[in-house]
Amino acid sequence: DKLKKEIESARISTREELEHFRLTYLSKKGHVSALLSKIGSVAAEERKIFGQKVNAVKQLAHTKLKEAEQRLHSTKKSTAKATDDITLPASPLPLGVAHPLSQTLRQIKDVFYRLGFSIADGPEVEDDFHNFTALNFPPEHPARDMQDTFFIRKTEDADTDDLVLRTHTSPVQIRLMKNGTPPFRSIMPGRVYRNESITAKSYCLFHQVEGLYVDKKVSLAELKDTLIMFVEMIYGEDVRYRIRPSFFPFTEPSLEMDIWWGDESSGKWLEILGAGMVHPNVLQAVGIDSEEYSGFAFGMGVERIAMLKYGIDDIRLLYDNDLRFLQQFQ
Ligand code: PHE
Repeated sequence: DKLKKEIESARISTREELEHFRLTYLSKKGHVSALLSKIGSVAAEERKIFGQKVNAVKQLAHTKLKEAEQRLHSTKKSTAKATDDITLPASPLPLGVAHPLSQTLRQIKDVFYRLGFSIADGPEVEDDFHNFTALNFPPEHPARDMQDTFFIRKTEDADTDDLVLRTHTSPVQIRLMKNGTPPFRSIMPGRVYRNESITAKSYCLFHQVEGLYVDKKVSLAELKDTLIMFVEMIYGEDVRYRIRPSFFPFTEPSLEMDIWWGDESSGKWLEILGAGMVHPNVLQAVGIDSEEYSGFAFGMGVERIAMLKYGIDDIRLLYDNDLRFLQQFQ
């Protein structure tokens, strides 16, 4: 009985203790063998009971040994083997990266932040007034056509405005000027929508950054200077650019800026932004005296800037979320 207690309370937590246990109780010279060999000398009437007890102890010792063996074996599996090199660096954890559009937008914001522009935003569902009328779009202007604009609400009622998904972020200029007093110097980044067929070059939605600077005596020269600084900061000091006349309803005069893309012989001019001096009708629509104040505005597509910067030839890649594509922008 004493031996039984001893075996029951034995603690086996290492290989060494396991072997010690085996030697002490179960080897040829161990306690169990010693008891077994005593059976012969026990009085005949007690022999049966004694034998049973010894057998029970033997069973107990065996079970305990087996259990301990299994336990030690399974813990051994999860610990490093002597041959493992524990100084090896761990396998890398997959890390996410900012989307190329987010990276580009951040760079654009950084440039204009340094030039003193703050950031303004507005709703993506706009009314006709902010998206078109206040921006000097004539009533029958083709941009209002069903082909370009996603209409949310179209009415014949003269007192209610159509609702559209904004086709540019210029309506934010209108909201900004209506709600404040000059001077204004802000950029308006945001998502815009166009009802065009989806191709490598155009998508039903994209992102714009527009800018507005309104103050006394803002000049075209300042606009040119701002745009030149912008392309030099985004594409490098040696970027080749040109500025040519253009047309927008909300600016007069209007211009577009191109940059040279590719090498001397096989490259070409690519348009990267539109700009101009804010049209007097626009200032009037928001209650700013166009005799006292003038301003410039510009607008660019973030996708376009990103595609040129990274050499991406299909706009749809930016919206597929294919990891093989996205992981290249570490
Ligand atoms: N809103 C114009 C567009 O979407 C871009 C632009 C903005 C042009 C401001 C000139 C001045 O095409």
